[in-house]
Amino acid sequence: MPMPRVSTRHTRTLAVGVIGPGRVGSALLEQLRAAQPRLQQDHALELKLCGVVARKQMWLDCDDAELNARHGGAQVWRPNDLDAFAQHVRGNDGRHALLIDCSASDEVAAFYPHWLANGIHVVTPNKLAGSGPLKRWQAIRRACAESGARFRYEATVCAGLPVVQTLRDLLDTGDQLLAVHGMFSGTLAWLCNRHDGAQPFSALVREAHAKGYTEPDPRDDLSGRDVARKLVILAREAGWPLSLEDVDLESLVPEDLAALPRDEFLQHLTALDAPMAAKLAEAHAQGGVLRHVAQLDRDGRASVRLQVLPASHAFAHTRLTDNIVQFTTRRYCDNPLCVQGPGAGPEVTAAGVFGDLLRIAESLEARA
Ligand SMILES: NC(=O)c1ccc[n+]([C@@H]2O[C@H](COP(=O)([O-])OP(=O)(O)OC[C@H]3O[C@@H](n4cnc5c(N)ncnc54)[C@H](OP(=O)(O)O)[C@@H]3O)[C@@H](O)[C@H]2O)c1
Repeated sequence: MPMPRVSTRHTRTLAVGVIGPGRVGSALLEQLRAAQPRLQQDHALELKLCGVVARKQMWLDCDDAELNARHGGAQVWRPNDLDAFAQHVRGNDGRHALLIDCSASDEVAAFYPHWLANGIHVVTPNKLAGSGPLKRWQAIRRACAESGARFRYEATVCAGLPVVQTLRDLLDTGDQLLAVHGMFSGTLAWLCNRHDGAQPFSALVREAHAKGYTEPDPRDDLSGRDVARKLVILAREAGWPLSLEDVDLESLVPEDLAALPRDEFLQHLTALDAPMAAKLAEAHAQGGVLRHVAQLDRDGRASVRLQVLPASHAFAHTRLTDNIVQFTTRRYCDNPLCVQGPGAGPEVTAAGVFGDLLRIAESLEARA
């Protein structure tokens, strides 16, 4: 006779607020909606979306008379008020609450220490907290330690690829990070892969821009600053107190083009051709390839620059816009541990954020 199924699981409810319903935020909202029935059934997890806030407006799932009074009686949406938004998601019934910051705003990142200190978990693909002022980063860590709230940011480095979690697992199991090498920009990987001398570099940048591989202003990619931010995030994860200013950063944007308005910069793109052709010739002369590499050495030195690598190097064989990260550790010292794959795009980035949310949810107890 079959045994009756006795469910010992209690549903865990997590109140969620999404900040920044842009490309990543919208993809995430879609993924959350689609996953609800499966999470309920397979994991006894209920995600309760309590609100969404954009740059100027916010939408709450309640009709709070006090808030409405403060905001001129807005019933459908109210002006952005991050404090009120966080309070609304947190509620006052002792529930688990989590804010997901899908903006690229420093103003939002500045709230993290306060939210975390108040027990609200935070998940984000926004790099500004992880690579911003060290003092704020330390305040975030302190707030987590004191309140027990969790801060997760897997998607800040290589979008949905398991990079931060892999590093954390290595360290948590007693390994020691010795060095990091990587290509953290899909745009620069694509440009380096295609830059073989057949076309001027500026033509490739124009093609990447037209294909949507670059940021609206390609200087955001070409400056290497975004890559440097990712390196800082990984270094801090390993306990090295690195700041953006400590990274030896070689920008591909000539100094005299750095401050031009975007359209004017795009008109002067050919200024990149001669220096990039010279670098390519240097690579060919050495029988190597040109790659954009982020590097953190054993002695804590960090750099982001074009490098000539041997044609046999793993970075010479990446595909299209692939990102790649190599961790050299005490255990993985002869042959580093590699994570490789597409490292950008709203869908995969949102999935990285969602994975963080699920890991936090897994660790929460059911509350009545
Ligand atoms: N796209 C990718 O492939 C990718 C990959 C890895 C990481 N990321 C990171 O993910 C984040 C989102 O990227 P995205 O491509 O989705 O950007 P996006 O399309 O520009 O969306 C940004 C969103 O943030 C909102 N926002 C800006 N300031 C805000 C504020 N002060 N308060 C509340 N909301 C605010 C914007 O509101 P409005 O709609 O009102 O302007 C918009 O909805 C960024 O940090 C980015 O670096 C993106």
